[in-house]
Amino acid sequence: MHAVAAPLALKRDLLTGTEWSPAQLRDFFRLATEMKARPDRYRTVLAGSVFVLIFEKPSLRTRVTFETGIANLGGTSTFLDHTAARLSEREPVRDIAKNLERWVQGIVARVFAQETLEELAANANVPVINALSDKFHPCQALADFFTLEERFGGLRGLKLAYVGDGNNMCHSLLTIGARAGAHIRVATPAGYEPDAAIVAESKRVARETRGKIEIVRSPEDAVAGAQAVYTDVWASMGQETESAAREKAFAAYQVNEALFEQAAPDAVFLHCLPAHRGLEVSAGVIDSPRSIIYDQAENRLHVQKAILHTLLT
Ligand code: CP
Ligand code: NVA
Repeated sequence: MHAVAAPLALKRDLLTGTEWSPAQLRDFFRLATEMKARPDRYRTVLAGSVFVLIFEKPSLRTRVTFETGIANLGGTSTFLDHTAARLSEREPVRDIAKNLERWVQGIVARVFAQETLEELAANANVPVINALSDKFHPCQALADFFTLEERFGGLRGLKLAYVGDGNNMCHSLLTIGARAGAHIRVATPAGYEPDAAIVAESKRVARETRGKIEIVRSPEDAVAGAQAVYTDVWASMGQETESAAREKAFAAYQVNEALFEQAAPDAVFLHCLPAHRGLEVSAGVIDSPRSIIYDQAENRLHVQKAILHTLLT
């Protein structure tokens, strides 16, 4: 019988990513590395545990990687499809939480409003994991920085440019990147900047970790010399009616060959996916050898297994 790495003593919900200190994040990445390298040692850590996945929005990666990860760790899961209805429509979120905690060991929720997650967590005495909200996508950003650490061997001082909408993805890259000591430059059009409170919190953490957070206007300024260039959709799930207006506002923010050339010579391209070739990114960049989008997607699985092990055992 092999010894498995001891779980980390972290707060039991993952709602924003701000729950974790820089030191806890470092330990977390070590655990994820170990679990990725030796998956057989962790086949039973969740034996007998049942999880509910509640999704108010569609998903490919998050759903499949959570369902697969739970199964790989010996647990089982039930998917509650709320993609046609918000959680509070049939009954109050509080009642849903208070029912679920009687039956299952953990809740993975993809929601419109961050408040829905907070309400689930406040009322369910089992861990709640944010599988994407309007404010954050912590599981994705954890997988992204884990992928960058594999690629570059470390995250301190790593230069990451984020170009596009100051959305959930941008917020989570700021939150996790600050804790990792990365140097992050975000370029958005006017009116689409990231949330000021999240930027301020990330800057505060970055002062501790010698990271750097800068919000700029010009995509060229953000990308100059960057080792990693990240973009996301211009209209997130739920913003479909704004698509045309956003396409206009973001037209100068496409990550294409001309922009990507201004990054460092060994730069990589990242996108959380799904992507729209010809809008936020050109096919020439996303389908180039410098693109690591499928490594990011693979690492969702390994990193989320480490999240489950950390919060549940
Ligand atoms: N990146 C991501 O979360 O993908 P899905 O929306 O397919 O889960
Ligand atoms: N910002 C995107 C991320 C999808 C994974 C959205 O919320 O739709």
